[in-house]
Amino acid sequence: MDIHLSLIPGEPITRQVFQQIRDAILAGRLTAGDALPSSRDLAASLGVSRNTVITAFEHLTAEGYLRARAGVGTFVASDVQPINRARKVPSALRPLPWWEDESWESPRASGTEYAFDFRTGLPDSTAFPFSTLRRLIVGELRRTVEGGRYADPQGEAALRAAIARHLAVSRGLTVGADDVVVTNGVQQAVSLLAQVLLQPGDVAAVEDPGYPAVRRALQAARADVASVPVDTDGLVVSELPSNAKLVYVTPAHQFPLGVRMSLARRSALLEWAGDNDAAVVEDDYDSDFRFAGRPLDALHSLDRSGRVVYVGSFSKTMLPSLRLGYCVVPPGLVTALRRARFVADWHGPVALQGALAGFIDEGRLAAHIRHMRRTYLARRDRLADLLDSRFDDVLMRIPSVAGLHLAAWARSDHADVAGWVRRAADHGVALATVQDLSFEPTRPGLVFGFGAIPEEKIAGGLRVLRDAIDRRESRVGS
Ligand SMILES: Cc1ncc(COP(=O)(O)O)c(C=O)c1O
Repeated sequence: MDIHLSLIPGEPITRQVFQQIRDAILAGRLTAGDALPSSRDLAASLGVSRNTVITAFEHLTAEGYLRARAGVGTFVASDVQPINRARKVPSALRPLPWWEDESWESPRASGTEYAFDFRTGLPDSTAFPFSTLRRLIVGELRRTVEGGRYADPQGEAALRAAIARHLAVSRGLTVGADDVVVTNGVQQAVSLLAQVLLQPGDVAAVEDPGYPAVRRALQAARADVASVPVDTDGLVVSELPSNAKLVYVTPAHQFPLGVRMSLARRSALLEWAGDNDAAVVEDDYDSDFRFAGRPLDALHSLDRSGRVVYVGSFSKTMLPSLRLGYCVVPPGLVTALRRARFVADWHGPVALQGALAGFIDEGRLAAHIRHMRRTYLARRDRLADLLDSRFDDVLMRIPSVAGLHLAAWARSDHADVAGWVRRAADHGVALATVQDLSFEPTRPGLVFGFGAIPEEKIAGGLRVLRDAIDRRESRVGS
């Protein structure tokens, strides 16, 4: 390991080397087991004699900071503990107020284990074909290491072509590789679209209840975000503010209510967008998992005026940690999006993109989706049956034919769903309320993700929830 030492002229060098290495260990910058550079290399980089460094190392070893292993090197001793953390310099720098607003927090790693995990947005990673992906990534690393240069911000051509083919087969979309821009998930797709389509202060409309992460992306682009209600037919088009420049919707499986936007609403939205000169962002994040009914045409397929941008994600069909998604954009936006992606982070990891192209081309993605559809269907049916049979007195399930979550309204507008969730959480149940995913006050409801919970745990989790509800209800009744 290289270590940074700065020597002050005129002071004894051995002492300076000793003190700076000791300070680095005590401050935790060098930790137990770290290898030090050889005395020869360190002496050469400092421009001092090797004996000077050897003497400093010997003192440090004698005091227990270092341990020399003959023929291997010198290491930080395994039993030293850092004591004084690195000095923090007070800083005058502050972010713009929006980034410090305490009303929201960016999510941390979602790896927490819950006994009964009904969180939304998580697929089942236990059934993922990791060995196939590993083989493809290793092959791509070998291939791309030879090229090893910056790549196309629009995304690897092979992946764009594979995505276009996948969309043609699975969603009936007529798109070519040139229409596809690869992104780090839907999240980056929306951020880039906001950058290229919106001026600060422009109005962007989102569904309410809706997907908070996209709302934040639009706000971060300085858009004025308007909440638009959702009913059983999806976004209520008549409630759209006429000055909205962008409308974000989840027509195939509304997040979080789970309803499907009716054909009439789809047509109305497209007509509205034409009349009001607005862009429509269609987020098709989990429609690969459709369990009943015929699929309705995507807005993208119905669009005759090139106003719809279709965004998709591999977070549900594969893994969210891969950070892979894409948008399908009209030709007039491709150059701007390529530039926006370049400005943001140039491009995504090339080997991973190549591996995903292989995963799609070998039919692995389609096979994994087929397999997981059966798994998720069984969970969904179990969850729906239990909600209908055991919670009918307190909850009203919202019909839904796709995706990895179900939602239900409370029968009473005064139901303390937040209290139910809190008490259930004390016994290991992770669950969201509709209000958690709403921007304006809403009627009480619950959202049950079933991507991360095995089928055999669903009944147990719901029993805990039922107890949490009954405890409250009986206290109110007593
Ligand atoms: C509505 C919606 N869109 C998109 C995503 C996926 O986003 P990303 O591709 O950034 O992981 C999610 C994940 O939960 C979602 O709920």
